[in-house]
Amino acid sequence: MADTEAHPDHDPILPVRRPRRLRSSATMRNLVAEVEPAPRQLILPMFVAEGIDAPRPISSLPGVVQHTVDSLLRAVEEAADAGVGAVDLFGVPRPEDKDATGSVALDPDGILNRGVRAVRERFGDDILVCADTCLDEFTDHGHCGVLATDRHGATVVDNDATLPLYADMAVAQAEAGAHLVSPSGMMDGQVRVIRDALDRRGFTDVAVMAYSAKYAGAFYGPFREAVGSSLQGDRRAYQQDPRNSRESLVEVQADIDEGADIVMVKPAMPFLDIVRTVADMSPVPVAAYQVSGEYAMISAAAEKGWIDREAAVLESLTGIRRAGADIILTYWATEAARLLRG
Ligand code: PBG
Repeated sequence: MADTEAHPDHDPILPVRRPRRLRSSATMRNLVAEVEPAPRQLILPMFVAEGIDAPRPISSLPGVVQHTVDSLLRAVEEAADAGVGAVDLFGVPRPEDKDATGSVALDPDGILNRGVRAVRERFGDDILVCADTCLDEFTDHGHCGVLATDRHGATVVDNDATLPLYADMAVAQAEAGAHLVSPSGMMDGQVRVIRDALDRRGFTDVAVMAYSAKYAGAFYGPFREAVGSSLQGDRRAYQQDPRNSRESLVEVQADIDEGADIVMVKPAMPFLDIVRTVADMSPVPVAAYQVSGEYAMISAAAEKGWIDREAAVLESLTGIRRAGADIILTYWATEAARLLRG
């Protein structure tokens, strides 16, 4: 719009600051924009399943599927072509292969390690492959660690008995070709044992992306469908209480001290204040995980025509970047990367 003529007689009190000046055209807005998610900063979480011969849709995550190894490779290629920085693989074993300790997770020929190996062999360093280092998809009780009975007779998730399993799982993932391993089980000390196990076997270049501030939130429902979770009950005895923010600092600092290369906050949208707090104190890169429930919520509203899907997707990612995350895990990674590239 052209400048209009001023009317000094009618309105002697004119604004001193005119912030609208910097919004006056797309070019001007682009000049001054502070943050924008870049495709290279996006990580695509993916599911690879045992015992299926075609990709299987996940009803609560429209557009996301459980992959066969073949369809996984095709989807990774699309992600790489769109400029996505990394994929993060989750394994879905057959129900009958689950057991109390999640032993398939450690098997070099288990579905997750086969998926990691296939991606690394095909794509090398063209796109990074990250492996989820947690037992919950593989245990018949669905918890992230092994169970024990405490001295009062209660069933608990045994922190210290779980640690060596995580260490072995991370080593198996590194052997399969993972560039990054990603402990998501919220066991105390998990980063330290994993770092130590990797280094002792010469995997000093495999990075640890630690789920540091992970909350026992209400937004994981669709993920549990995606992995065919066996969980009864909840994870409140090991994931964080959404009412708290201080303990995130303890968790993040511990993971940094234990050697985490990247720290993560999860979920993203209900915890953007935590993303900001962590971004302000962390000397290592900060990731945020836009979880399944966040994806499902926006997808459902868009399907109903209540919000504009593409605009809402980009705005949700922009908000996470503005809160201070460097890296974003999102099921929209490929689609968002294409949108961002125009
Ligand atoms: C557990 C794990 C979960 C997710 C990632 N890793 C589920 C949970 O903690 O119950 C959730 C991701 C999502 O909801 O998108 N290892």
